[in-house]
Amino acid sequence: LSPLFTTGVLAGRRVLITGGPTYEAIDPVRGLTNRSSGKMGYALARAAHEAGAEVCLVSGPTCLTTPAGVRRVDVQSATEMREAVLRELPANVFIAVAAVADYRVEAAAPQKIKKSGGGLTLTLVANPDILAEVAARPDAPFCVGFAAETERLAEHAEAKRRQKKLPLLVGNLAPDTLGADAAELVLFDDDGAHRLPRADKLEQARALIRHIASHLN
Ligand code: CTP
Ligand code: CA
Repeated sequence: LSPLFTTGVLAGRRVLITGGPTYEAIDPVRGLTNRSSGKMGYALARAAHEAGAEVCLVSGPTCLTTPAGVRRVDVQSATEMREAVLRELPANVFIAVAAVADYRVEAAAPQKIKKSGGGLTLTLVANPDILAEVAARPDAPFCVGFAAETERLAEHAEAKRRQKKLPLLVGNLAPDTLGADAAELVLFDDDGAHRLPRADKLEQARALIRHIASHLN
């Protein structure tokens, strides 16, 4: 077939994306969360759809509109995000953009906790690492991680890529990119580091999707 008839670099591929923060309840009206607007995950979902993929976006709480053509599954906690991701597998590509809370409150209170004058001690337990779990499966998709670091980006990013056994990890320096419309990204893969200079997140997402597609082919 002529390449003129190909609809996009990800045509026929299933792409699963996590985006936004997670929210871990302390009681019915309070919780722990991470800083994440969801903009990068949503931009990637849009770019993957434009590239012809079937896209599922598992999203923590955000104020954003679902991109056209994208199927969105809403979740709150890391535990719910993990369950939704496992239900949506298999996929060809998994892009973990979500800022997943590393800890949750061991036992959320069923009623609003009343202040008592003194302090409050919460017991936190570790959340599952969704990306590491997906990457370790025998039917693992092509897995892409995101890492927002506040210092020594290359060192932390390469360590994370090795630990989670990822072909590709995208690094950025927080807090510059948090909530912003633009981002400077660095892609870490077996070929080394590749810098994407500061640009609009949709433009970055499109470049990243092209990069991922080149890895698949
Ligand atoms: N991630 C995940 N599940 C978690 C924690 C992180 O899927 N419970 C994913 C994120 O979506 C991101 C990548 O792992 O793609 C890196 O997240 P990050 O928080 O930077 O790494 P951690 O391994 O949690 O290390 P730390 O927070 O200590 O830097
Ligand atoms: Ca973390």
